[in-house]
Amino acid sequence: MADKVLVIGSGAREHVIATTLLSGPGVDRVWCAPGNPGMEPDGISLLREDPTQPEKLIAAIRELGIDWVFVGPEAPLTAGLVDELQAAGIPAFGPSKAAARIEGSKGFAKDLMRRHGIPTADYAVFHDLDGAKSYVRSHGAPVVIKADGLAAGKGVTVATDLDQAMQALDAIFIDHKFGQAGAQVVIEDQLVGQECSLMCFVRGEQFWPMPLSQDHKPAYDGDRGPNTGGMGAYSPLPQFGPELTQKALDAIVAPTVRALAREGSPFTGVLYTGLMVTDQGPQVIEFNARLGDPETEVVLPALTSDLGTAIRTLMEGGEPQFTWDDSHSRLGVVLAAQGYPGNPKTGVPVPLIAPEQDLRAYYAGVSGSASTGLTSSSGRTALVVAQGDDLAQAAHRVYARLDGLSMPGLFYRHDIGHRGLEA
Ligand code: AMP
Ligand code: GLY
Repeated sequence: MADKVLVIGSGAREHVIATTLLSGPGVDRVWCAPGNPGMEPDGISLLREDPTQPEKLIAAIRELGIDWVFVGPEAPLTAGLVDELQAAGIPAFGPSKAAARIEGSKGFAKDLMRRHGIPTADYAVFHDLDGAKSYVRSHGAPVVIKADGLAAGKGVTVATDLDQAMQALDAIFIDHKFGQAGAQVVIEDQLVGQECSLMCFVRGEQFWPMPLSQDHKPAYDGDRGPNTGGMGAYSPLPQFGPELTQKALDAIVAPTVRALAREGSPFTGVLYTGLMVTDQGPQVIEFNARLGDPETEVVLPALTSDLGTAIRTLMEGGEPQFTWDDSHSRLGVVLAAQGYPGNPKTGVPVPLIAPEQDLRAYYAGVSGSASTGLTSSSGRTALVVAQGDDLAQAAHRVYARLDGLSMPGLFYRHDIGHRGLEA
């Protein structure tokens, strides 16, 4: 009998997790908590239960007869939602609170990498402004300043001069811009190269890699403007061969999951490695304890095996099957509300794009309803993904569709995939 699954989260990542689960035989019903109304036309039910209130969530899970839970975002993972669900006897896919520290504390992740010789930038950790400033003065620029805890991708400053570095430190220690997440800082050397994302399904010391993908963090064309949560992504990456993935799996993923397991916090879930491909090979920029957003929206649709069956098998200790379509490319473009990432306009109409043969939309920050119309409720409203025989065809398909729409109040980047297309 097929499973009933609850996906925790509300973004385009959770939308694609839910549709991928529903597309296979292992799962026949999906709720998303809290989800968003752009998901409903795909047969996803919304559960307006607050994941920060586990007792109510657990009661709802029991009442609905939900078989297992997929936890999407970092906040509930680092808060220990998986531990709470499992303690209540509900199977949950995602790392424990202890294992999620690999994302929740950059200092924890860096110390683990140092202990195990995993390639990453040199660094130091500080708890006070004076110590941090004197280190930065003797280090010199460029230097990278990172708030230790979760900061929605906004806690990092790549400082090209000392003034910028000092301002970043003042923002953390004097203005408390990131609250508790800035109780300590990691200061590290700048890595130079091209970034990419390697995500793996993990159970203890075993892992199953997904195709490589690449995010685009700056808000505007030409990689200009402020950093965002991600403006688009594509997969696979024509500029990197399978040797790069193998090197990263051998030198980074394998020793990391082994270290977590042997140090008492085995990781089950998705481990996301943000890589910088340097002249010395791949180095770790960051780890996330979950699927990346927007990378997942261009990676999961390439799965040709059944996601629901694989996750269930993985949780039960069996041998999961993950097979991938390597004969197509997928490219996704975020529709953002004007003002994002600073102060996005809310209430802006967001088009409801019905699935087409090679194109579909995944929704994120929208309110309203599919029947009366969707409007923006936060910065990233939707991501439109097209599939093509190659990256150029995928890019052409998505931009031909978007350029034909009138979307006042929304903007998108016109050059997603440029590094892959240049390769
Ligand atoms: P993170 O939140 O750690 O992924 O950092 C956000 C972004 O800052 C990354 O995607 C990189 O573009 C940049 N960044 C972080 N650490 C470094 C580093 N050591 N060298 C160069 N760029 C970095
Ligand atoms: N795309 C980067 C992240 O999910 O953190």
